[in-house]
Amino acid sequence: MSRLSQGLTHGGRLNQAARQWGIPRRDWLDLSTGISPYGYPVPTIPGAVWQRLPEDDDGLDAVAREWLRLPAGAGCLPVAGSQPALQTLPALRPRCRVGVVSPAYAEHARAWQQAGHDVMVLAADAVEAALPRLDVLVCVNPNNPTGALLPAETLRRWHQRLTKQGGWLVVDEAFLDASNGVSLAAEAHQSGLIVLRSLGKFFGLAGLRAGLMVAEPMLCLAMQTALGPWAMSHPARYVMTQALQDQAWQQQQREQLRRDRQRLDNLLVAASLTPKGASDLFAWCPDGQAPQRFEALARQGILVRYFTEPAALRFGLPGSESQWDRLQSAISALV
Ligand SMILES: Cc1ncc(COP(=O)(O)O)c(C=O)c1O
Repeated sequence: MSRLSQGLTHGGRLNQAARQWGIPRRDWLDLSTGISPYGYPVPTIPGAVWQRLPEDDDGLDAVAREWLRLPAGAGCLPVAGSQPALQTLPALRPRCRVGVVSPAYAEHARAWQQAGHDVMVLAADAVEAALPRLDVLVCVNPNNPTGALLPAETLRRWHQRLTKQGGWLVVDEAFLDASNGVSLAAEAHQSGLIVLRSLGKFFGLAGLRAGLMVAEPMLCLAMQTALGPWAMSHPARYVMTQALQDQAWQQQQREQLRRDRQRLDNLLVAASLTPKGASDLFAWCPDGQAPQRFEALARQGILVRYFTEPAALRFGLPGSESQWDRLQSAISALV
């Protein structure tokens, strides 16, 4: 069985790290994800929200549309994280040729491949030449794990070309909120443009399972039908409605994450690493010694993500002064 069909490796697997390295779970500093260490302060959830089934007309739709400044013609579907949406999208098209700008969150290529489509992984600079042979192009913007940001102009140009061929441009904006990137969500009423958003990363609510798909209304309807009724829980809809409306918290979060990313970069540069990427939630460090450094950090109970192609480490943000101190001394020991 190939690695793709077996299931992929993701960050945040602390139980596995505890077993592998013989360090109890509570002693780990987990920097292996791009999830904000500061979660949105979840409000008290009324009993009826736990007890009753969710209803589509509970007000979330209007709040999400306002948050993304969507035009009236756009479809907007709350989903239980962007993962079920990206996993289900391939079922909404007959077999076709799909390009995935890579390296990227590997679930995209896996989902399209598993649904029987012809998938090619492409470097961003190979997209232009490949477009005439593609029906669908998937981009993660900013990218995970590299943090590379594609200009909105480039994405618009690719979308125009694909849509002339009856194709789709899928833009995964899971990490966009904590970056200077420009969202295409407000343009996704246009035929063939699909934007996915997540509340897992910037809002630090990965466990909630909440996200959005924005696209033509017909496509959102097809997704909703494929996912079935009550695909997103009532508590998740309730918390999401509050979080999207809380502009003051979002502004404070943006500023905090920007400062933290700068601090992380300073620390990594001092250790002769070269942090890259436009997401404030993680730093991507290409590093010929990635395996050795990954292991040295893990032996000290610090979990980062290690990538092989190309060899690199990805560092998420510490969430407290003691965690910063711990990272600082572990990194200094590497030098
Ligand atoms: C780029 C990207 N897109 C989507 C997802 C799925 O996230 P969620 O389902 O929590 O929205 C992830 C998860 O790590 C991701 O990295």
